[in-house]
Amino acid sequence: MIHSVALGADHGGYALKEAVKEHLLARGIEVTDFGTHSEESVDYPDMAVPPCEAVLRGEVEAALLFCGTGVGISMAANKIHGIRACCCSDIFSARYTRAHNNANALCMGGRVVGAGLACELADAFLDTDFEGGRHAARVAKLAAIEENH
Ligand code: RB5
Repeated sequence: MIHSVALGADHGGYALKEAVKEHLLARGIEVTDFGTHSEESVDYPDMAVPPCEAVLRGEVEAALLFCGTGVGISMAANKIHGIRACCCSDIFSARYTRAHNNANALCMGGRVVGAGLACELADAFLDTDFEGGRHAARVAKLAAIEENH
């Protein structure tokens, strides 16, 4: 189970971040919020970096990232060495991206999913552990791609 997360969002994901943040705090999850803190327009690549860096420094276990679709901020996060981000709008993927991909960032779209589903996606992600075993070798291959391209 993941007990600590960093949050990041652009304006398109701001409202959803706020809803998920309230849910996480009520659950007792440790939350570090890197913004954005309003509906004012900001660029999603800028908002992906600080929470992902907090993950890589070991300050939190995972990042939860939000933009309008969840896609742009997941692309930005996946450019960062050591981040394995998944954009999810279904519970199965949110669970198995932890179990099989050892994802350390979950991305959601504020214009795609409602607050209720987003909180359940976050729960599925946080409550699932990496299974290791044969999946560890595959995740190592992801890291090798990162090293070689
Ligand atoms: C911003 O309008 C929007 O493009 C952004 O939130 C995100 O959906 C990009 O992938």
